[in-house]
Amino acid sequence: MRMIRIFDTTLRDGEQSAGINLNVEEKLEIAKQLAKLNVDVIEAGFAVASPGDFQSIQEIAKKVKGPAICSLARAVPRDIELAWEAVKPAGRPYIHTFIATSPIHMEYKLKKSPDEVVEMAVAAVKLAAKLCPEVEFSAEDATRSEWDFLCRIFGEVIKAGAKVINIPDTVGYAVPEEFGRMVAYIKENTPGIEKVLVSVHCHNDLGMAVANSLAAVANGADQVECTINGLGERAGNAALEEVVMALHTRNKFFAAETGIVTEQIYRSSTLVSTLTGSYVQSNKAIVGANAFSHEAGIHQDGVLKNPLTYEIMTPQSIGLPSSRLVLGKHSGRHAFRERLEELGHYLNNEDLEKAYQRFLEVADKKKEVTEMDLEALVRGELLQVEDVFTLEYFHVTTGNNTLPTATVRVKNGSRVLQEAACGDGPVDALFRAIERITSLPAALKEYNIKAVTGGKDALGEVTIRMEYGGKSYTGRGVSTDVIAASARSYMNAVNKIARDNQGK
Ligand code: KIV
Ligand code: ZN
Repeated sequence: MRMIRIFDTTLRDGEQSAGINLNVEEKLEIAKQLAKLNVDVIEAGFAVASPGDFQSIQEIAKKVKGPAICSLARAVPRDIELAWEAVKPAGRPYIHTFIATSPIHMEYKLKKSPDEVVEMAVAAVKLAAKLCPEVEFSAEDATRSEWDFLCRIFGEVIKAGAKVINIPDTVGYAVPEEFGRMVAYIKENTPGIEKVLVSVHCHNDLGMAVANSLAAVANGADQVECTINGLGERAGNAALEEVVMALHTRNKFFAAETGIVTEQIYRSSTLVSTLTGSYVQSNKAIVGANAFSHEAGIHQDGVLKNPLTYEIMTPQSIGLPSSRLVLGKHSGRHAFRERLEELGHYLNNEDLEKAYQRFLEVADKKKEVTEMDLEALVRGELLQVEDVFTLEYFHVTTGNNTLPTATVRVKNGSRVLQEAACGDGPVDALFRAIERITSLPAALKEYNIKAVTGGKDALGEVTIRMEYGGKSYTGRGVSTDVIAASARSYMNAVNKIARDNQGK
């Protein structure tokens, strides 16, 4: 079996998706989860893009152990020097530098000749290799580049010290058979290729990113670049969970496997969708809500007789939590901690206490607290930012013949502020009242609500996306009461905005 390296770019290409904006704590939380998933490389950001990106990469490099920590850099000295500053605290620092190689990009975007592009690529890789032990070079828009030019530039950067050469399908233009042939051609015709790893990075514009990545593996690629839930520019990147489970389930066909701890897939997916506010469609392969549910009677009958009749992989293999009862309102702290640890959450005392208090509130209202509920609560409680504003009280009236009205009391330091507002519905009234208090007029761009489990007393999970000062902020709240969950989600987002804009 060949080992295929998994290079995760959720925090770089994934974060480039429209409407996604993660703060440093959120990126760190995702990076820690990626380490539990055991990815080989975490591309933590693009250091030169913003001070926030730089800080996130540096924090991840300092705190996340196991995978290599990578920053993207254009093939220019300033980018590479900053990338190095950001990743150098890591146990395994990694720089990924790139330049476009397709005729259209070289002529119109870079305004450089092919010779000049080769020269810049070589200079960039030499500088990066002087600073950092692991250097990857990408030929942007490779799938619209001339194959012989790719072999030439890859040969030169290998001489300059690149350890990985990456073939991106930047615009999602390739089809599997052709992409497989391209990888095989580059492997046969690039001088020195046997000394380095060959990586691929596929976008999903035609819905073929995973198929293209797998075709590349079948033709000798050693590394796949992908993102959790397939997030990324435009239609996204190859979905990590699909690539990994395809290799896992069909390992004999590919004669290849990965080092991914597949039981961490579901948790990684829900964490990323929660923090980015980007929901996963219900019929999405591997992690969609319906991926393991059998509706047709014939299928249900077959699965009961033998799960293998209709299941090519088990829900346990991706760590799907069950909806069985795990704790009740009489469960003590000790049992609560034990249950969380069984689910893989090791909390410090302070976080444990916060999560336990929220659990008690929920257990009081909800007879059965399931693994799904616990996961949702822990995600919610641990990722609340330190509050600038704390919701003390709210009251909402609504009805078919009443103007929906909300009264809200919020604490801001030692000040207690109170406001009332009417709206189109109870949530609108509530949000307007909070906005009056906080004086942070953010535009609400998305509002999503879903039930964590089935049943009338299910927890409601609300995720919102707001825009303020040109930036996107997500907020999340969980409660058995959907209005309370909405209030928590709004307070969560507004606290992020307040914290980001303190002193401005
Ligand atoms: O899609 C792309 O070409 C990229 C490169 C920077 C690798 O994201
Ligand atoms: Zn990309």
